[in-house]
Amino acid sequence: MRERPTRSDVTLKDLESPDWWRQAVVYQVYPRSFADSNGDGIGDLPGITSRVPYLRELGIDAVWLSPFYPSELADGGYDVADYRDVDPRLGTLDDFDTMAAALHDAGIKLIVDIVPNHTSDQHEWFQAALAAGPGSPERARYHFVEGKGPDGDQPPNDWQSHFGGGVWERVVEADGTPGQWYLHFFAREQPDLNWDNPEVRADFEKTLRFWSDRGVDGFRIDVAHYLTKDLREPFAPFSEVGLGENVEAHGHPFSDRDEVHDVYRAWRKVFDEYTPPRIAVAEAWVHRSRVARYASPEGLGQSFNFDLLLAEFDASEFRDVIQDSLELAAESGSSSTWVLSNHDVVRHATRYGLPAGSGRHAKDWVRSGGSPDDVDTERGDRRARAATLVLLALPGSTYLYQGEELGLHEVGDIPGDARQDPTYFRTGGAEFGRDGCRVPLPWTKDGPSFGFGSNGAHLPQPTWFGDYSAAAEEAAPCSMLSFYRAALALRETLQTDESLTWIEHPSPDVLAFERPNGWRSITNFGAVPVDMPDGEVLLASAPVDGSTLPGETTVWMR
Ligand code: BGC
Repeated sequence: MRERPTRSDVTLKDLESPDWWRQAVVYQVYPRSFADSNGDGIGDLPGITSRVPYLRELGIDAVWLSPFYPSELADGGYDVADYRDVDPRLGTLDDFDTMAAALHDAGIKLIVDIVPNHTSDQHEWFQAALAAGPGSPERARYHFVEGKGPDGDQPPNDWQSHFGGGVWERVVEADGTPGQWYLHFFAREQPDLNWDNPEVRADFEKTLRFWSDRGVDGFRIDVAHYLTKDLREPFAPFSEVGLGENVEAHGHPFSDRDEVHDVYRAWRKVFDEYTPPRIAVAEAWVHRSRVARYASPEGLGQSFNFDLLLAEFDASEFRDVIQDSLELAAESGSSSTWVLSNHDVVRHATRYGLPAGSGRHAKDWVRSGGSPDDVDTERGDRRARAATLVLLALPGSTYLYQGEELGLHEVGDIPGDARQDPTYFRTGGAEFGRDGCRVPLPWTKDGPSFGFGSNGAHLPQPTWFGDYSAAAEEAAPCSMLSFYRAALALRETLQTDESLTWIEHPSPDVLAFERPNGWRSITNFGAVPVDMPDGEVLLASAPVDGSTLPGETTVWMR
């Protein structure tokens, strides 16, 4: 294996190019769980700034920051009380500027999360809506309607929310009487905005300019397919509309309606006011035939593709997903995105270590108590490394989730009284939710909160966390961290244009493809070794002896 080039040896991608995002490696920071600078148990912006050297050494191109805005934390910050400020527990706007400058100085772009479907119920607009009463312009920024039944005490329909329970919540009017109902597709603390209201549209454009003026390079758009809604009666029953994912045609009452693209066309004009233009990536759970609209150059420009995250560790599943995703991206002229983990799913090292066939059903494992004893961590780590090399060899942008570079596993067994995810509470504990991938990062082998902060951590860290700490892995040449650094640095030297050619292999377990200049990625997804292909091994996800490619292993060759 070759000596790993350091980031300063390699030609840095031209981050001033308007196309910088097309093949970027983007690292997701979940700010409350990244690094805590003031010992209050909650990660913060100065904490992120202090870790910029780590991010630079890792070799990423951009950071995507999950919400850091003032929030009651009913949904981990996705309940935003003020879109143009920083949660005081996380810092100040000055801290934000310092962090952005430190990232930019390190050659790292900054993408922030925008949550346009709903505000927090603590947002001044919602508070004003409650105070102003039925029929007011304040209520018209949300979806307030009368209830059913003689006393209006029945919800307007039977639609169910993402976190469990119905989508309607009844308010108490200023005079103390039970009143109207408002719509919330997520927690009750997250009232949905009315995107037919011009004030709502204007305010978000103001927000996009606010952060763009502060030097933000792009935006991740939360539930981008949900904004516009047709709430005219009669309402279709929940059994027909469901949560509105994967709908093939226009006409669903609240998901993926064609009008949503008017919003994004207007946003594109805002993005294009800047040099280079600000970028955006849509989180849109829509049917494949409708993805290109979100990723079009007149719209948001790029869309998340979660299919690899949902795929089993299997050569033909990976190939189908990759082929399909490349074709989809080509339809809109965008580049594909690749994701194995994020703040909403069970970490992939764990998914890959669950008994065969259960990766997709990792939630069942969490539901059953999430015992670490059920996870074959060695296998999970091995597969995670192999899959990571596949992703990093693909054309397009790869999104990494904080901690995956340490090989972190899901913390499946967080006790009920320490859980925070609204899913847990809204389902009466039937669903355990997403806290297990949001446990604060371990930076040191021991010490209070494993170096996350000088005190505790807002979610309990298990005793095994120290072994996965950055400090423990820093020194180990074979650690996951060293592996990610090597892979990212090498990718930087190899990634050129976006072409990919499949290489056929006699074994159905082998997935192989070639990129420009003879760069090949070859993965044996099976358990049985196959012959090592000819060529120079540039990097391998597991030790190789030169004659065979072991099972569950990827090699990059030339
Ligand atoms: C985010 C979740 C969040 C939800 C509601 C999702 O797309 O990724 O974390 O709970 O939107 O904002």
